[in-house]
Amino acid sequence: MATANFSSEINKRRTFAIISHPDAGKTTITEKVLLFGRALQKAGTVKGKKSGQHAKSDWMEMEKERGISVTTSVMQFPYSDHLVNLLDTPGHEDFSEDTYRTLTAVDSCLMVIDAAKGVEDRTRKLMEVTRLRDTPIITFMNKLDRDIRDPMELLDEVETELNIACAPVSWPIGCGKEFKGVYHLLRDETILYKTGQGHTIQEVRSVKGIDNPELDEAVGSALAEQLREELELVVGASHEFDLELFLAGELTPVFFGTALGNFGVDHMLDGLIQWAPAPQGRETEEGKVEADSAGFSGFVFKIQANMDPKHRDRIAFCRIVSGKYEKGMKMRHSRIGKDVRISDAVTFLAGDRELLEEAYAGDIIGLHNHGTIRIGDTFTWGDNFRFTGIPNFAPELFKRIRLKDPLKQKQLLKGLIQLSEEGAVQVFRPLANNDLIVGAVGVLQFDVVVARLKAEYNVDALYEHVNVSTARWVYSDSDKKLDEFRRKAEQNLALDGGDNLAYIAPTMVNLQLAQERYPDIQFKHTREH
Ligand code: G4P
Repeated sequence: MATANFSSEINKRRTFAIISHPDAGKTTITEKVLLFGRALQKAGTVKGKKSGQHAKSDWMEMEKERGISVTTSVMQFPYSDHLVNLLDTPGHEDFSEDTYRTLTAVDSCLMVIDAAKGVEDRTRKLMEVTRLRDTPIITFMNKLDRDIRDPMELLDEVETELNIACAPVSWPIGCGKEFKGVYHLLRDETILYKTGQGHTIQEVRSVKGIDNPELDEAVGSALAEQLREELELVVGASHEFDLELFLAGELTPVFFGTALGNFGVDHMLDGLIQWAPAPQGRETEEGKVEADSAGFSGFVFKIQANMDPKHRDRIAFCRIVSGKYEKGMKMRHSRIGKDVRISDAVTFLAGDRELLEEAYAGDIIGLHNHGTIRIGDTFTWGDNFRFTGIPNFAPELFKRIRLKDPLKQKQLLKGLIQLSEEGAVQVFRPLANNDLIVGAVGVLQFDVVVARLKAEYNVDALYEHVNVSTARWVYSDSDKKLDEFRRKAEQNLALDGGDNLAYIAPTMVNLQLAQERYPDIQFKHTREH
């Protein structure tokens, strides 16, 4: 049974990620959130595209050149008696696979929307992924210091396009140069905005009560009147906050503010602490493991190389599902059925790697990986179960990779297999010839692979066109049918980095025909690790 201390450690944790379209303000919000966590004295050190400062998580020159964050990093900070884990997801759509898998490791998400633009593509896609697990979503409408779209229209758009009910928790008073602050519907309080305070935690100035004449003085009577009128409409036309619906992923509380002006971010954080779920259990092949089970368990959702050029090792990011990590403890590496002693897991206090004494369910720990850990691996207190639901997505882009120096074939294959175990790319080896085909979800992955093959494996490689446009992992309930399929379709079959059989098709039509011709074979778009 869990002790009181153990339960309170777990209950005070909140593990979340930010989902948004590029440029909506994810990085800026991350900075401000860390500022509130007092993790950074002064916001502005996560990323500064113009100033030439870069996030501590930036790890490759290429990333710096392009000014995008390729990596997923993890930040832990205290906020109001709680411990918050924020998992940063790569914003660039080329890294969507990593992003998807990161979303399996959180218990809630913050959706950031540029209020001048509304719902954008990438947000739509990411919301689909959060739907797979009904992850609770908090919404932040950003950039109120600019001219934005009609707030009511924004809520409508979220409701219809993302199919989630909106419950405004704060409501904006003006926008752009006229932005005066927000009215907090649950606190019946107006919080006033002051410009030029983005780098600090502002002193809160507020007016209690919607009919308070001080409100008219503070924001001007025209805007105060407009607010009162809008509120009547809003209350009638939108939903009230409902905790149960929020936890079921059916309703999102909506906050308005400006990340750049550091206004409203704290309202959102207060909501996160109050409503977002404490660490949740996860499904295994044999049933669910709850977060307050005493034994340690966790799964690897991300493997990353060279996070810090000073440490040239690979780190496996493990989400603790249950129990507690203690330095020097033994864990069962479930896939290989062996116990390993871990004395050097790292944590990620606001981006710095620190050696860790203990960690609890909901936390992310970094395990040093010397080649034995793959994405999707489970670590347990001693049983051999495995967590489910950490997907690989069928790539959409393919290239043949070729060596400049043919003598390095072995190195190339080793590099590609390791990179595919990290989830950086997928590799396919056709049954019918000696080609090596690299498959990616986003085009930037190809460049990363060549750069890393050179830097880490001393292999010079280049790409050639290959006539493959899609891939599916193939399965069958009948070994006989699968064997037959293997013989007949050999020209289109390949093994991936983990030796799983895949059908690689030159065209979508070819794939469709194969599906019709072999009804006993399942063609899957995702593969679980
Ligand atoms: P991302 O990580 O989601 O891609 O977005 P990021 O935070 O980098 O923000 C994208 C741009 O939007 C940045 O400007 C940032 O300063 C700006 N921004 C973020 N929040 C707000 C806000 O509340 N109000 C306004 N007016 N702008 C905001 P940039 O010029 O593209 O980049 P930078 O050089 O300032 O970093």
